[in-house]
Amino acid sequence: MKIKNFYVLVFTSLLAYGCSQQEVKFMPNNLEQYRPDFHFSPEKGWMNDPNGLVYIDGEYHLFFQHYPDSTVWGPMHWGHAVSKDLVHWEELPIALFPDSLGYIFSGSAVYDSANTSGLGSTETPPLVALFTYHNMEGEKAKTIDFQTQGLAFSLDKGQTWQKYEGNPVLKNPGIRDFRDPKITQVTQADGKSTWVMTLAARDRVHFYESANLKEWTFLGEFGKNEGAHGGVWECPDLLSMTAPDGSQKWVVLVSINPGGPQKGSATQYFIGDFKQGVFTPDDTMIRWLDYGPDNYAGVTWANLPKEQNRTLWIGWMSNWDYAQVVPTTTWRSALTLPREISLFDVDGTLLVKSAPAKELGGLKGTSYSISGKESLLPSAAVEILAEVSGEDSFSMLLSNELGEEVAITKEMGLVTVDRRKAGKGNFNRDFAAAHSAPMSWKAESIRIFLDASSIEVFVNDGELVLTSLLFPTSPWKKIEVIQGLEDVKILDLQDSSTPSLEKK
Ligand code: FRU
Repeated sequence: MKIKNFYVLVFTSLLAYGCSQQEVKFMPNNLEQYRPDFHFSPEKGWMNDPNGLVYIDGEYHLFFQHYPDSTVWGPMHWGHAVSKDLVHWEELPIALFPDSLGYIFSGSAVYDSANTSGLGSTETPPLVALFTYHNMEGEKAKTIDFQTQGLAFSLDKGQTWQKYEGNPVLKNPGIRDFRDPKITQVTQADGKSTWVMTLAARDRVHFYESANLKEWTFLGEFGKNEGAHGGVWECPDLLSMTAPDGSQKWVVLVSINPGGPQKGSATQYFIGDFKQGVFTPDDTMIRWLDYGPDNYAGVTWANLPKEQNRTLWIGWMSNWDYAQVVPTTTWRSALTLPREISLFDVDGTLLVKSAPAKELGGLKGTSYSISGKESLLPSAAVEILAEVSGEDSFSMLLSNELGEEVAITKEMGLVTVDRRKAGKGNFNRDFAAAHSAPMSWKAESIRIFLDASSIEVFVNDGELVLTSLLFPTSPWKKIEVIQGLEDVKILDLQDSSTPSLEKK
């Protein structure tokens, strides 16, 4: 702990307070004002969903819906970035460009280690990506079959991609919204493995099966009478996960827009069983992966080494209600923190928790403990940790020198992130709102990641999560603990490094 340094910091920050007009980093016209420090954002242009998440040879590949020529949605490409530690990302050249079959919509990638597709060889197994072709001419002509599924493969571990000459590999059966293939390798009862594609089809999911990733057979559908149906279903995922009692469960994640708990976009999930192409949920309750307004289209990484023993997930940190008008300039949208999702049990009911990926916990930055009720923040990129003391309620406030503030509370079983007075919000009539989530069980701890334009609140290490965009006019400067929190620590994550990657 560096209490002494902290007071030096408080003093210098106070000095800086008075001179904030001269601070270059946050001048009102600074194009990079809202650029996150430790979240992925594209260098320029538009980004939405994460796509094709696949791990290979020590690198986490991240592809993403990208329109490089504008900061609003347009002809979709797959942008590409890689990371060795899930914190520092390197953006690479665009992986997939639109072609005569259409824009390249969302999808996934797998490592075809046994070369089942025949697109590589046993010595050089291919990475195979399945994505949706969105044909604009078809859409304009008001046909309904303009979304089909295409395949691309890479023989150099994701650096370059070739489109399969037999595209599309799955034609449209006459369903207007028919997209976002996510491939899961499923081990069958006889021990053999097969590829299962989970596809969003209107407001439900369809399952297909294939032995070679090129020919697909329809297995069945799920969701007609389950979950939320206030909008179209998108970006599904099918996962095998272990419950705390050791039993094997299957989880379907699916995003919905509109119809989320805070209006607009959100991601719901179902826990149950998946056998012979049939997903049977344990119940029909609606459950949300994240109760904040700004977490959408999240899916999981394929091909993680067994010894990692985790399910790794990332989402798009925005909401279609206002994603295209948020006040960033040369780029638009960032992704959430990578998160480890797992099952936990509350009074006999299984739920999914999402904790920040463990790599985030290893970040090296200067750390401060707060002894009094309030203190200045060392930078605009911090992690805040605290224990909930005594009663099951707490309240804290983050603010800046302009009197803008964001409140984080738990009161009467509701966890709330209130961004009504958190700065810019007039670009959308619903943006400046307080967002609450029910939490019937006790809050023990909170962990908050605050970056230049976002806040992610993890209660009990992710048993309840709220993710919200924030656009303060000047950076957050002060934290006030109003009640119910103790042992408050702040870690300065600006320009932080991961210990294992540090240069010696
Ligand atoms: C979800 C989504 C997907 C689609 C993509 C298009 O945000 O609408 O269903 O594939 O975005 O960019």
